[in-house]
Amino acid sequence: MEERTVQLTENGKVIAELPIKTGTMGPSTVDISQLYQQTGKQYFTFDPGFMATASCHSAITFIDGEQGKLLYRGYPIEQLAQKSSFLEVAYLLLNGQLPTQNELDTFTHNILHHTMINESLKMFYHGFHYNAHPVAVMIGVVGSLSAFYHDSINVYRQESRIISAHRLIAKVPTIAAACYKHSIGEPFIYPDNKLSYCGNLLRMMFAVPCEEYELNQTAERALDLLFILHADHEQNASTSTVRLAGSSGANPFACIASGIASLWGPAHGGAAEAVLDMLQEIGNVSQIDKYIQKAKDKNDPFRLMGFGHRVYKNYDPRAKIIRDTCHKVLNEFSNTSDPLFELALKLEEIAVTDDYFIERSLYPNVDFYSGMIYRSLGIPSNMFTVMFAIARTVGWVAHWMEMISDPRHKIGRPRQLYDGAVSRDYVAITER
Ligand code: SDX
Repeated sequence: MEERTVQLTENGKVIAELPIKTGTMGPSTVDISQLYQQTGKQYFTFDPGFMATASCHSAITFIDGEQGKLLYRGYPIEQLAQKSSFLEVAYLLLNGQLPTQNELDTFTHNILHHTMINESLKMFYHGFHYNAHPVAVMIGVVGSLSAFYHDSINVYRQESRIISAHRLIAKVPTIAAACYKHSIGEPFIYPDNKLSYCGNLLRMMFAVPCEEYELNQTAERALDLLFILHADHEQNASTSTVRLAGSSGANPFACIASGIASLWGPAHGGAAEAVLDMLQEIGNVSQIDKYIQKAKDKNDPFRLMGFGHRVYKNYDPRAKIIRDTCHKVLNEFSNTSDPLFELALKLEEIAVTDDYFIERSLYPNVDFYSGMIYRSLGIPSNMFTVMFAIARTVGWVAHWMEMISDPRHKIGRPRQLYDGAVSRDYVAITER
Protein backbone atom coordinates (compact mmCIF):
# COMPACT_ATOMS: atom_id res chain seq x y z
CA MET A 1 0.00 0.00 0.00
CA GLU A 2 1.40 3.41 -0.94
CA GLU A 3 2.70 5.34 2.04
CA ARG A 4 0.44 8.24 3.02
CA THR A 5 2.23 11.55 3.56
CA VAL A 6 1.44 15.15 4.52
CA GLN A 7 3.19 18.20 3.11
CA LEU A 8 4.27 21.24 5.13
CA THR A 9 4.30 24.43 3.10
CA GLU A 10 5.53 27.98 3.85
CA ASN A 11 4.44 30.81 1.55
CA GLY A 12 3.15 28.23 -0.93
CA LYS A 13 6.47 26.36 -1.04
CA VAL A 14 6.65 22.73 0.20
CA ILE A 15 9.29 22.66 2.97
CA ALA A 16 8.71 19.08 4.14
CA GLU A 17 6.86 15.91 3.15
CA LEU A 18 6.27 13.71 6.19
CA PRO A 19 5.01 10.12 6.40
CA ILE A 20 1.80 9.22 8.23
CA LYS A 21 2.01 6.32 10.70
CA THR A 22 -1.20 4.50 11.59
CA GLY A 23 -1.70 2.12 14.52
CA THR A 24 -4.40 -0.50 15.17
CA MET A 25 -6.68 1.98 17.01
CA GLY A 26 -6.72 5.71 17.74
CA PRO A 27 -5.49 8.73 15.76
CA SER A 28 -2.83 8.31 13.10
CA THR A 29 0.44 10.24 13.60
CA VAL A 30 2.59 12.46 11.44
CA ASP A 31 6.15 11.15 11.72
CA ILE A 32 8.19 14.34 12.24
CA SER A 33 11.50 12.61 12.99
CA GLN A 34 12.96 13.91 9.68
CA LEU A 35 11.41 17.39 9.86
CA TYR A 36 14.60 19.10 11.10
CA GLN A 37 16.66 17.50 8.33
CA GLN A 38 14.08 18.11 5.58
CA THR A 39 13.76 21.82 6.47
CA GLY A 40 17.53 22.34 6.31
CA LYS A 41 17.76 22.32 10.13
CA GLN A 42 15.36 25.26 10.32
CA TYR A 43 12.38 23.77 12.16
CA PHE A 44 11.46 21.75 15.28
CA THR A 45 7.85 21.16 16.34
CA PHE A 46 6.52 22.79 19.51
CA ASP A 47 4.13 20.97 21.88
CA PRO A 48 4.81 21.71 25.60
CA GLY A 49 2.74 19.33 27.73
CA PHE A 50 2.54 16.91 24.77
CA MET A 51 -1.06 17.89 24.04
CA ALA A 52 -0.89 16.29 20.57
CA THR A 53 2.37 14.33 20.56
CA ALA A 54 2.83 10.55 20.50
CA SER A 55 6.17 9.83 22.21
CA CYS A 56 6.49 6.15 21.33
CA HIS A 57 5.02 2.98 19.88
CA SER A 58 3.11 1.00 22.50
CA ALA A 59 0.84 -2.06 22.53
CA ILE A 60 0.05 -2.07 26.25
CA THR A 61 -2.91 0.24 26.98
CA PHE A 62 -5.37 2.10 24.80
CA ILE A 63 -7.55 5.01 25.92
CA ASP A 64 -10.39 6.52 23.93
CA GLY A 65 -10.82 9.82 25.77
CA GLU A 66 -13.86 10.92 23.82
CA GLN A 67 -15.75 7.67 24.50
CA GLY A 68 -14.35 7.15 27.99
CA LYS A 69 -12.92 3.75 27.10
CA LEU A 70 -9.85 2.03 28.60
CA LEU A 71 -8.35 -1.24 27.29
CA TYR A 72 -5.42 -3.22 28.77
CA ARG A 73 -3.90 -5.24 25.89
CA GLY A 74 -7.27 -4.93 24.14
CA TYR A 75 -9.43 -6.09 27.07
CA PRO A 76 -11.99 -3.49 28.36
CA ILE A 77 -11.29 -2.36 31.92
CA GLU A 78 -14.89 -3.12 32.91
CA GLN A 79 -14.45 -6.82 32.04
CA LEU A 80 -11.07 -7.07 33.80
CA ALA A 81 -12.48 -5.31 36.87
CA GLN A 82 -15.36 -7.77 37.01
CA LYS A 83 -13.61 -11.03 36.08
CA SER A 84 -9.84 -10.75 36.63
CA SER A 85 -7.41 -10.28 39.52
CA PHE A 86 -4.54 -7.85 39.98
CA LEU A 87 -1.80 -10.45 39.45
CA GLU A 88 -3.57 -11.81 36.36
CA VAL A 89 -3.79 -8.24 35.01
CA ALA A 90 -0.11 -7.76 35.88
CA TYR A 91 0.74 -10.87 33.82
CA LEU A 92 -1.43 -9.54 30.96
CA LEU A 93 0.21 -6.10 30.96
CA LEU A 94 3.72 -7.57 31.10
CA ASN A 95 3.23 -10.38 28.58
CA GLY A 96 0.46 -9.21 26.26
CA GLN A 97 -1.83 -12.23 26.70
CA LEU A 98 -4.05 -13.58 29.47
CA PRO A 99 -2.21 -16.45 31.22
CA THR A 100 -3.22 -20.09 31.31
CA GLN A 101 -3.80 -21.42 34.83
CA ASN A 102 -0.29 -22.90 34.85
CA GLU A 103 1.25 -19.63 33.67
CA LEU A 104 -0.66 -17.67 36.32
CA ASP A 105 0.33 -20.12 39.07
CA THR A 106 4.00 -19.84 38.08
CA PHE A 107 3.85 -16.04 37.88
CA THR A 108 2.06 -15.80 41.22
CA HIS A 109 4.62 -18.11 42.84
CA ASN A 110 7.47 -15.98 41.47
CA ILE A 111 5.93 -12.77 42.75
CA LEU A 112 4.97 -14.11 46.18
CA HIS A 113 8.47 -15.55 46.63
CA HIS A 114 10.24 -12.25 46.11
CA THR A 115 8.27 -10.27 48.69
CA MET A 116 11.03 -9.98 51.32
CA ILE A 117 13.42 -7.04 51.29
CA ASN A 118 17.08 -7.16 52.26
CA GLU A 119 17.31 -6.73 56.03
CA SER A 120 19.81 -3.88 55.63
CA LEU A 121 17.20 -1.95 53.60
CA LYS A 122 15.27 -1.51 56.82
CA MET A 123 17.98 0.76 58.15
CA PHE A 124 17.06 3.31 55.48
CA TYR A 125 13.68 3.91 57.14
CA HIS A 126 15.31 4.93 60.42
CA GLY A 127 17.00 7.84 58.70
CA PHE A 128 13.55 9.43 58.20
CA HIS A 129 11.60 11.17 60.94
CA TYR A 130 8.33 9.39 61.81
CA ASN A 131 6.45 12.34 60.25
CA ALA A 132 8.20 12.11 56.87
CA HIS A 133 5.62 11.84 54.07
CA PRO A 134 5.37 8.11 53.19
CA VAL A 135 5.81 8.85 49.48
CA ALA A 136 9.13 10.59 50.19
CA VAL A 137 10.25 7.50 52.12
CA MET A 138 9.05 5.17 49.36
CA ILE A 139 10.97 7.10 46.69
CA GLY A 140 14.13 6.81 48.78
CA VAL A 141 13.79 3.13 49.59
CA VAL A 142 12.72 2.00 46.08
CA GLY A 143 15.60 4.00 44.60
CA SER A 144 18.02 2.35 47.03
CA LEU A 145 17.07 -1.11 45.66
CA SER A 146 19.42 -0.16 42.80
CA ALA A 147 22.28 -0.54 45.30
CA PHE A 148 21.40 -4.17 45.99
CA TYR A 149 20.87 -6.22 42.86
CA HIS A 150 24.13 -6.38 40.92
CA ASP A 151 23.08 -9.70 39.38
CA SER A 152 20.52 -8.00 37.13
CA ILE A 153 22.23 -4.73 36.28
CA ASN A 154 22.40 -5.35 32.53
CA VAL A 155 19.01 -4.06 31.36
CA TYR A 156 19.74 -5.30 27.82
CA ARG A 157 19.59 -8.95 29.00
CA GLN A 158 16.00 -10.27 29.01
CA GLU A 159 16.60 -12.43 32.09
CA SER A 160 17.75 -9.34 34.01
CA ARG A 161 14.67 -7.42 32.96
CA ILE A 162 12.34 -10.22 34.04
CA ILE A 163 13.94 -10.71 37.48
CA SER A 164 13.97 -6.93 38.06
CA ALA A 165 10.29 -6.76 37.06
CA HIS A 166 9.35 -9.55 39.47
CA ARG A 167 11.42 -8.06 42.30
CA LEU A 168 9.81 -4.62 41.86
CA ILE A 169 6.21 -5.90 41.67
CA ALA A 170 6.84 -8.23 44.61
CA LYS A 171 8.67 -5.81 46.89
CA VAL A 172 6.77 -2.56 46.53
CA PRO A 173 3.95 -3.75 48.85
CA THR A 174 6.51 -4.75 51.50
CA ILE A 175 8.28 -1.39 51.15
CA ALA A 176 4.96 0.49 51.16
CA ALA A 177 3.68 -1.27 54.26
CA ALA A 178 6.96 -0.48 56.03
CA CYS A 179 6.54 3.21 55.07
CA TYR A 180 3.20 3.14 56.88
CA LYS A 181 4.53 1.21 59.89
CA HIS A 182 7.45 3.66 60.21
CA SER A 183 5.03 6.61 60.16
CA ILE A 184 3.07 5.17 63.12
CA GLY A 185 6.05 3.84 65.05
CA GLU A 186 5.03 0.17 64.82
CA PRO A 187 7.32 -2.77 64.00
CA PHE A 188 7.51 -3.93 60.39
CA ILE A 189 5.57 -7.12 59.61
CA TYR A 190 7.19 -9.78 57.41
CA PRO A 191 5.24 -10.92 54.33
CA ASP A 192 3.20 -14.12 54.64
CA ASN A 193 3.37 -15.89 51.30
CA LYS A 194 0.31 -18.01 52.06
CA LEU A 195 -1.79 -14.86 51.50
CA SER A 196 -2.81 -13.16 48.24
CA TYR A 197 -0.93 -10.13 46.97
CA CYS A 198 -3.45 -7.72 48.51
CA GLY A 199 -4.08 -9.85 51.58
CA ASN A 200 -0.35 -9.80 52.26
CA LEU A 201 -0.25 -6.01 51.93
CA LEU A 202 -3.19 -5.47 54.28
CA ARG A 203 -1.62 -7.78 56.85
CA MET A 204 1.79 -6.09 56.61
CA MET A 205 0.07 -2.73 57.15
CA PHE A 206 -2.39 -3.57 59.89
CA ALA A 207 -1.15 -6.67 61.75
CA VAL A 208 0.77 -6.27 65.02
CA PRO A 209 3.08 -8.90 66.58
CA CYS A 210 0.99 -9.19 69.73
CA GLU A 211 -2.31 -10.18 68.13
CA GLU A 212 -3.72 -12.56 65.52
CA TYR A 213 -4.65 -10.65 62.34
CA GLU A 214 -7.98 -11.41 60.73
CA LEU A 215 -8.07 -10.54 57.05
CA ASN A 216 -11.31 -8.98 55.79
CA GLN A 217 -12.29 -10.49 52.42
CA THR A 218 -14.22 -7.38 51.33
CA ALA A 219 -11.20 -5.21 51.99
CA GLU A 220 -8.94 -7.68 50.13
CA ARG A 221 -11.27 -7.73 47.12
CA ALA A 222 -11.73 -3.92 47.13
CA LEU A 223 -7.96 -3.41 47.15
CA ASP A 224 -7.47 -5.93 44.36
CA LEU A 225 -10.05 -4.06 42.27
CA LEU A 226 -8.46 -0.66 42.97
CA PHE A 227 -5.09 -2.06 41.93
CA ILE A 228 -6.54 -3.41 38.65
CA LEU A 229 -7.96 0.05 37.90
CA HIS A 230 -4.70 1.85 38.75
CA ALA A 231 -2.32 -0.62 37.08
CA ASP A 232 -1.67 1.28 33.86
CA HIS A 233 -2.83 4.26 31.85
CA GLU A 234 -0.81 4.69 28.63
CA GLN A 235 1.73 7.55 28.49
CA ASN A 236 0.71 9.52 31.61
CA ALA A 237 3.25 11.79 33.29
CA SER A 238 4.80 9.19 35.59
CA THR A 239 4.97 6.48 32.92
CA SER A 240 6.58 8.94 30.52
CA THR A 241 9.05 9.78 33.30
CA VAL A 242 9.96 6.11 33.68
CA ARG A 243 10.35 5.72 29.91
CA LEU A 244 12.56 8.81 29.65
CA ALA A 245 14.70 7.78 32.64
CA GLY A 246 14.95 4.23 31.30
CA SER A 247 15.83 5.35 27.77
CA SER A 248 19.39 6.13 28.93
CA GLY A 249 19.79 2.51 30.13
CA ALA A 250 19.47 3.60 33.78
CA ASN A 251 18.95 1.10 36.58
CA PRO A 252 15.28 -0.06 36.60
CA PHE A 253 14.86 0.46 40.35
CA ALA A 254 16.04 4.06 39.99
CA CYS A 255 13.66 4.53 37.03
CA ILE A 256 10.67 3.33 39.06
CA ALA A 257 11.68 5.71 41.87
CA SER A 258 11.50 8.54 39.33
CA GLY A 259 8.02 7.38 38.38
CA ILE A 260 6.90 7.53 42.02
CA ALA A 261 8.30 11.05 42.28
CA SER A 262 6.30 12.20 39.24
CA LEU A 263 3.14 10.43 40.41
CA TRP A 264 3.28 12.33 43.71
CA GLY A 265 2.25 15.64 42.15
CA PRO A 266 -1.31 16.79 43.02
CA ALA A 267 -2.08 17.16 39.30
CA HIS A 268 -1.37 13.41 38.95
CA GLY A 269 -1.42 10.59 41.50
CA GLY A 270 -1.23 12.98 44.43
CA ALA A 271 -4.81 14.02 43.59
CA ALA A 272 -6.50 11.32 45.72
CA GLU A 273 -4.93 12.78 48.89
CA ALA A 274 -5.78 16.28 47.62
CA VAL A 275 -9.42 15.22 47.06
CA LEU A 276 -9.78 14.23 50.70
CA ASP A 277 -8.10 17.45 51.85
CA MET A 278 -10.49 19.39 49.57
CA LEU A 279 -13.59 17.59 50.87
CA GLN A 280 -12.50 18.25 54.46
CA GLU A 281 -11.93 21.93 53.55
CA ILE A 282 -15.39 22.20 51.92
CA GLY A 283 -16.78 20.61 55.09
CA ASN A 284 -20.46 20.29 54.20
CA VAL A 285 -22.96 20.48 51.38
CA SER A 286 -23.83 24.11 52.10
CA GLN A 287 -20.29 25.15 51.11
CA ILE A 288 -20.26 23.37 47.73
CA ASP A 289 -21.44 26.33 45.67
CA LYS A 290 -18.77 28.58 47.20
CA TYR A 291 -16.05 26.10 46.17
CA ILE A 292 -17.52 25.54 42.71
CA GLN A 293 -17.24 29.33 42.21
CA LYS A 294 -13.64 29.26 43.47
CA ALA A 295 -12.86 26.48 40.97
CA LYS A 296 -14.19 28.67 38.15
CA ASP A 297 -12.36 31.81 39.28
CA LYS A 298 -9.23 32.28 37.14
CA ASN A 299 -7.69 34.38 39.88
CA ASP A 300 -8.14 31.61 42.40
CA PRO A 301 -5.61 28.71 42.23
CA PHE A 302 -8.26 26.37 43.71
CA ARG A 303 -9.22 23.48 41.46
CA LEU A 304 -11.79 20.77 42.03
CA MET A 305 -9.38 17.95 42.80
CA GLY A 306 -10.39 14.61 41.31
CA PHE A 307 -12.05 16.37 38.36
CA GLY A 308 -10.76 16.75 34.85
CA HIS A 309 -8.33 14.74 32.77
CA ARG A 310 -5.95 15.42 29.91
CA VAL A 311 -7.32 12.52 27.86
CA TYR A 312 -10.82 11.73 29.13
CA LYS A 313 -13.28 14.26 27.83
CA ASN A 314 -16.00 11.98 29.05
CA TYR A 315 -16.43 10.08 32.29
CA ASP A 316 -13.26 8.26 33.44
CA PRO A 317 -14.48 4.64 33.26
CA ARG A 318 -12.44 3.84 36.36
CA ALA A 319 -14.28 6.48 38.40
CA LYS A 320 -17.62 4.86 37.62
CA ILE A 321 -16.39 1.45 38.77
CA ILE A 322 -14.81 2.86 41.94
CA ARG A 323 -17.92 4.86 42.86
CA ASP A 324 -20.07 1.73 42.65
CA THR A 325 -17.53 -0.21 44.74
CA CYS A 326 -17.57 2.60 47.28
CA HIS A 327 -21.18 1.89 48.10
CA LYS A 328 -20.45 -1.81 48.71
CA VAL A 329 -17.34 -1.20 50.82
CA LEU A 330 -18.92 1.57 52.90
CA ASN A 331 -21.97 -0.66 53.49
CA GLU A 332 -19.64 -3.46 54.64
CA PHE A 333 -17.75 -1.13 56.96
CA SER A 334 -21.05 0.55 57.93
CA ASN A 335 -19.60 3.90 56.81
CA THR A 336 -22.51 4.61 54.49
CA SER A 337 -23.19 7.64 56.62
CA ASP A 338 -19.63 8.81 55.94
CA PRO A 339 -20.25 12.56 55.57
CA LEU A 340 -17.33 12.94 53.18
CA PHE A 341 -18.76 10.30 50.84
CA GLU A 342 -22.17 11.98 50.92
CA LEU A 343 -20.40 15.30 50.23
CA ALA A 344 -18.46 13.75 47.32
CA LEU A 345 -21.67 12.38 45.75
CA LYS A 346 -23.35 15.79 46.08
CA LEU A 347 -20.32 17.63 44.71
CA GLU A 348 -20.27 15.32 41.67
CA GLU A 349 -24.00 15.77 41.14
CA ILE A 350 -23.68 19.58 41.14
CA ALA A 351 -20.43 19.83 39.17
CA VAL A 352 -21.44 17.56 36.28
CA THR A 353 -24.53 19.72 35.63
CA ASP A 354 -22.59 23.01 35.76
CA ASP A 355 -21.90 24.64 32.37
CA TYR A 356 -18.29 25.51 33.29
CA PHE A 357 -17.49 21.84 33.86
CA ILE A 358 -19.60 20.59 30.97
CA GLU A 359 -17.95 23.01 28.47
CA ARG A 360 -14.50 21.84 29.59
CA SER A 361 -15.47 18.16 29.80
CA LEU A 362 -14.50 18.05 33.47
CA TYR A 363 -15.77 14.81 34.98
CA PRO A 364 -14.66 12.86 38.08
CA ASN A 365 -11.44 10.96 37.40
CA VAL A 366 -9.92 7.86 38.98
CA ASP A 367 -8.78 9.83 42.02
CA PHE A 368 -12.14 11.30 42.98
CA TYR A 369 -13.55 8.26 44.76
CA SER A 370 -10.51 6.05 45.36
CA GLY A 371 -9.64 7.86 48.59
CA MET A 372 -13.08 7.07 49.99
CA ILE A 373 -12.37 3.36 49.76
CA TYR A 374 -8.82 3.62 51.09
CA ARG A 375 -10.15 5.70 54.00
CA SER A 376 -12.83 3.16 54.83
CA LEU A 377 -10.10 0.48 54.91
CA GLY A 378 -8.29 2.54 57.56
CA ILE A 379 -5.59 3.81 55.20
CA PRO A 380 -4.58 7.42 55.95
CA SER A 381 -4.68 9.99 53.13
CA ASN A 382 -0.89 10.44 53.10
CA MET A 383 -0.68 6.78 51.98
CA PHE A 384 -3.05 7.14 49.01
CA THR A 385 -0.30 7.93 46.50
CA VAL A 386 1.76 5.07 47.93
CA MET A 387 -1.16 2.73 47.19
CA PHE A 388 -1.43 4.18 43.66
CA ALA A 389 2.33 3.60 43.18
CA ILE A 390 2.06 -0.07 44.21
CA ALA A 391 -0.48 -0.69 41.46
CA ARG A 392 1.18 1.52 38.85
CA THR A 393 4.53 -0.21 39.32
CA VAL A 394 3.09 -2.93 37.07
CA GLY A 395 2.37 -0.41 34.31
CA TRP A 396 5.69 1.36 34.74
CA VAL A 397 7.59 -1.94 34.54
CA ALA A 398 5.58 -3.07 31.51
CA HIS A 399 6.36 0.17 29.66
CA TRP A 400 10.02 0.10 30.73
CA MET A 401 10.35 -3.48 29.38
CA GLU A 402 8.51 -2.58 26.15
CA MET A 403 10.78 0.43 25.61
CA ILE A 404 14.12 -1.25 26.46
CA SER A 405 13.39 -4.38 24.39
CA ASP A 406 12.33 -2.35 21.32
CA PRO A 407 15.33 -2.32 18.93
CA ARG A 408 14.04 1.03 17.63
CA HIS A 409 14.37 2.74 20.98
CA LYS A 410 16.76 5.68 21.41
CA ILE A 411 17.63 7.87 24.36
CA GLY A 412 14.88 10.47 24.80
CA ARG A 413 16.28 13.96 24.23
CA PRO A 414 13.65 16.63 23.41
CA ARG A 415 14.70 19.97 21.88
CA GLN A 416 13.32 23.44 22.78
CA LEU A 417 12.10 26.76 21.48
CA TYR A 418 14.82 29.02 22.89
CA ASP A 419 13.71 32.54 23.87
CA GLY A 420 16.55 33.51 26.17
CA ALA A 421 19.39 36.01 25.71
CA VAL A 422 21.08 36.08 22.31
CA SER A 423 24.85 35.60 22.16
CA ARG A 424 26.74 38.33 24.10
CA ASP A 425 30.24 38.95 25.57
CA TYR A 426 31.26 38.64 29.21
CA VAL A 427 31.32 41.95 31.12
CA ALA A 428 33.90 42.49 33.88
CA ILE A 429 32.28 42.99 37.27
CA THR A 430 33.82 46.45 37.54
CA GLU A 431 31.90 47.46 34.44
CA ARG A 432 28.42 46.13 35.36
C1 SDX B 1 -4.37 11.19 37.15
O1 SDX B 1 -2.63 11.21 32.54
C2 SDX B 1 -3.19 10.25 33.17
O2 SDX B 1 -3.62 9.28 32.56
C3 SDX B 1 -3.27 10.42 34.67
C4 SDX B 1 -4.05 9.35 35.43
C5 SDX B 1 -3.37 8.02 35.37
O3 SDX B 1 -4.06 6.99 35.60
O4 SDX B 1 -2.14 7.98 35.21
O5 SDX B 1 -5.36 9.25 34.92
C6 SDX B 1 -4.15 9.72 36.93
O6 SDX B 1 -3.41 11.91 37.29
C7 SDX B 1 -5.78 11.73 37.12
C8 SDX B 1 -5.83 13.30 37.23
C9 SDX B 1 -5.73 13.64 38.72
N1 SDX B 1 -5.59 15.12 38.89
C10 SDX B 1 -6.59 15.85 39.41
O7 SDX B 1 -7.69 15.42 39.73
C11 SDX B 1 -6.19 17.31 39.66
C12 SDX B 1 -7.30 18.24 39.18
N2 SDX B 1 -7.35 18.21 37.72
C13 SDX B 1 -6.53 19.09 37.00
O8 SDX B 1 -5.54 19.79 37.54
C14 SDX B 1 -6.53 18.88 35.48
O9 SDX B 1 -7.80 18.57 35.12
C15 SDX B 1 -5.56 17.86 34.93
C16 SDX B 1 -4.17 18.14 35.39
C17 SDX B 1 -5.96 16.50 35.34
C18 SDX B 1 -5.63 17.97 33.41
O10 SDX B 1 -5.16 19.23 33.08
P1 SDX B 1 -5.04 19.68 31.53
O11 SDX B 1 -5.40 18.60 30.61
O12 SDX B 1 -3.69 20.34 31.36
O13 SDX B 1 -6.19 20.71 31.39
P2 SDX B 1 -6.06 22.26 31.72
O14 SDX B 1 -5.33 22.45 33.01
O15 SDX B 1 -5.53 22.93 30.49
O16 SDX B 1 -7.58 22.65 31.97
C19 SDX B 1 -8.46 22.92 30.86
C20 SDX B 1 -9.50 23.88 31.44
C21 SDX B 1 -8.87 25.13 32.12
O17 SDX B 1 -9.84 26.15 32.06
P3 SDX B 1 -9.70 27.27 30.85
O18 SDX B 1 -8.30 27.87 30.97
O19 SDX B 1 -9.91 26.48 29.57
O20 SDX B 1 -10.80 28.27 31.14
O21 SDX B 1 -10.25 23.23 32.49
C22 SDX B 1 -10.01 23.87 33.73
C23 SDX B 1 -8.75 24.72 33.57
O22 SDX B 1 -8.77 25.84 34.45
N3 SDX B 1 -9.84 22.81 34.72
C24 SDX B 1 -10.35 22.81 35.94
C25 SDX B 1 -9.98 21.57 36.49
N4 SDX B 1 -9.25 20.89 35.62
C26 SDX B 1 -9.16 21.65 34.52
N5 SDX B 1 -11.08 23.73 36.61
C27 SDX B 1 -11.44 23.39 37.87
N6 SDX B 1 -11.14 22.24 38.48
C28 SDX B 1 -10.40 21.31 37.82
N7 SDX B 1 -10.09 20.16 38.42
